[in-house]
Amino acid sequence: MNGADAGPAGVPEAHGGVVLSTARLEMRPLSPAYLPHMRALYEDPRVTEFLVALDEAGHLRRLIEAEEMWASRGLGRVAIHERGSGRFLGRGGLHHWPQFDEVEVGWALRADAWGRGFATEAARAWLEWGFANLDVPYFTAYIAPDNAASRSVAARLGMSVLRTDTFHGRDVLAYALHRGRPRRQTS
Ligand SMILES: CC(C)(COP(=O)(O)OP(=O)(O)OC[C@H]1O[C@@H](n2cnc3c(N)ncnc32)[C@H](O)[C@@H]1OP(=O)(O)O)[C@@H](O)C(=O)NCCC(=O)NCCS
Repeated sequence: MNGADAGPAGVPEAHGGVVLSTARLEMRPLSPAYLPHMRALYEDPRVTEFLVALDEAGHLRRLIEAEEMWASRGLGRVAIHERGSGRFLGRGGLHHWPQFDEVEVGWALRADAWGRGFATEAARAWLEWGFANLDVPYFTAYIAPDNAASRSVAARLGMSVLRTDTFHGRDVLAYALHRGRPRRQTS
């Protein structure tokens, strides 16, 4: 599965999770242990401007769901840490949405980690890992039309708009990156 051109290998963990490292980041499967980190991340209104609001129970549900998705589908959301310092920067990774039967690559970072290319670096690693390890024809990202920073990340990854859609009751652009299509490799 992880041949010479198979992308980042990742290190398997218990419960089917994978730890993936890049030049600057280490990414670990989300679990309920991350509840304080996720609450702190979502306390910043700059971070949540385009995200679905979550209360304590909502966070916990999502964290349990991440753990279950790693176990059942071999993919899931991750915590993004800075390598070396170990500082928690945000969340990313992959998530299967049953209403679309599509796998999304996600990104949400603490505001003090913006502007350094971390979201792009994290998402690129999961796209490469996903194409190498999952039987998925394309990956998506559902982005509010006004979320310019997120649209820039999608464009930097070579994603393009597949369709407009509704996501959690809001209008979004559904970006996609298809397997085998040439990617625009800008920073
Ligand atoms: C969306 C979000 C993750 C984007 O963060 P970001 O820091 O702009 O994105 P990146 O990590 O890819 O950083 C890119 C920026 O860092 C700069 N950069 C610096 N060093 C870089 C490097 N080594 N590689 C790439 N970019 C680098 C780029 O020039 C770019 O700046 P630009 O946008 O002015 O061109 C962030 O705004 C966020 O967390 N928002 C709140 C949550 C959210 O809305 N998530 C998306 C829901 S769909």
